Formats: sequence, C-alpha cells, structure tokens
Amino acid sequence: MIAPSILSADFARLADEAAAVAGADWLHVDVMDAHFVPNLTLGLPVVEALLRHTDIPMDCHLMIDDPDRWAIGYAEAGAYNVTVHVEAAADPVKLAANLRAAGAKAGLSVKPNTPLEPYLEILRHYDTLLVMSVEPGFGGQGFISEVLDKVRTARRLVDTGQLTLLVEIDGGINQDTIEAAAEAGVDCFVAGSAVYSADDPAKAVAALRAQAGRVSAHRGGVH
Ligand code: DX5
Ligand code: ZN
Repeated sequence: MIAPSILSADFARLADEAAAVAGADWLHVDVMDAHFVPNLTLGLPVVEALLRHTDIPMDCHLMIDDPDRWAIGYAEAGAYNVTVHVEAAADPVKLAANLRAAGAKAGLSVKPNTPLEPYLEILRHYDTLLVMSVEPGFGGQGFISEVLDKVRTARRLVDTGQLTLLVEIDGGINQDTIEAAAEAGVDCFVAGSAVYSADDPAKAVAALRAQAGRVSAHRGGVH
C-alpha cells in the first residue's frame, strides 16, 4: 500500500492534489502543532474540508501534544486511520478504544529513537504501527535505515500472530529506499516528496507500489 503525504503538496490546492493521486491506498495527512514538533501545518477544519473532496481513505498522522484530547475529532470527522504518537499519549490504550468506538482504525507511531519493546502490550490495542524513518516535522529528509530493525520485529510479531496490525513507515521513502523497507516487512509506505515532486504523482504512486510489490512477492508474499 502507498499513502502519499500531502505535506509535500500545494496547500492552496489540496482537493486537486488529492485528486492527483487517484488510486492511492490512503491519503496521509500530517497534523503538526508546533509543540510536539517544531512545525505547524493544519488541523481538524482542513481535514473536515478535505474529507468532503476525496474518496481516498484518510490516514491522519497527529504530531501533536495531548492526543488523548484531540485525536477523537479526526475519527469522528471520518478519517479512516488516526495515528497518535506514543511519546505524546497519556493513556494510549484508552485512546485506541475511543478511536475505534468512533469508527476509525487506531494507529500508534514511534519516533526514530523510540524503542518498540516497552509498548508491545499497548500495540495489541492498535490497528497500525507507524514507524518514523525521519525525525517528525518536515518532509524531504533522509531515510534513517536503523529503524528497519523495529519493522523486522513488528513483522515477526504479526507473522507469528502475536500482534494484529499493519506496519507503516513514514519518512524518506523513495525509489532508492522503498525496497529495503519492503524487504524488512512494511505493509504501507508513506511518501511525500517522492510522490508530489514527480511530474505525474499518480504514476509515481503506481511505480512505488510496483517496486515494493516485487520485493514483497520475493520475500514470501504480499502482507
Ligand atoms: C514528516 C511527516 C511525513 C512527511 C514525509 O514528519 O510525518 O509524512 O510528509 O515526507 P517525505 O516522504 O518527503 O520524507
Ligand atoms: Zn506523516
């Protein structure tokens, strides 16, 4: 699965930019509050407006403080998947239950230096794990390949039935890095600059999906 990140799109033309990636599996929307990360993007009113203009399932990545209070609004608005950061959530188990009760999938994200092991019990309550492969805050950064160890761990836990979730990766994914991520066992690839800097974003999505698919098939099946 490929989830283009509109962080690299033209914010004045978001509906058109969503249409430009028709065929994408999810539309990744980065919400930043200038507190949890040193950048400010958009919030619930923009997400609500964009939801009225696209049928692509929306993947909201909340890089915000106090997600226990604010994440529910994105689920109620109709986002398909709502991801919060484990570093910011006070009660991530309760938060996941609230997101699911509001009709969304619940996602948990870990920054590059955040280990997985302390959160394995919590992850049993989540539908997606978003492994950050750059420090959250900005698009166009270089891929941190060390995080692939966490992807491999998560993949193994899913394949052995100890966790039931999609493994998603975010940051620095492009044609040079997607194969290593696919090899490690990623299910869903977020790509911002690699998609929106292309002349034809929809074609870039299809090309990335094909590239990852070849590797997944080779390592024993598409997840
Ligand atoms: C970064 C965001 C990413 C960003 C990825 O904090 O979470 O979703 O858009 O952009 P690229 O693909 O350019 O690294
Ligand atoms: Zn993101």
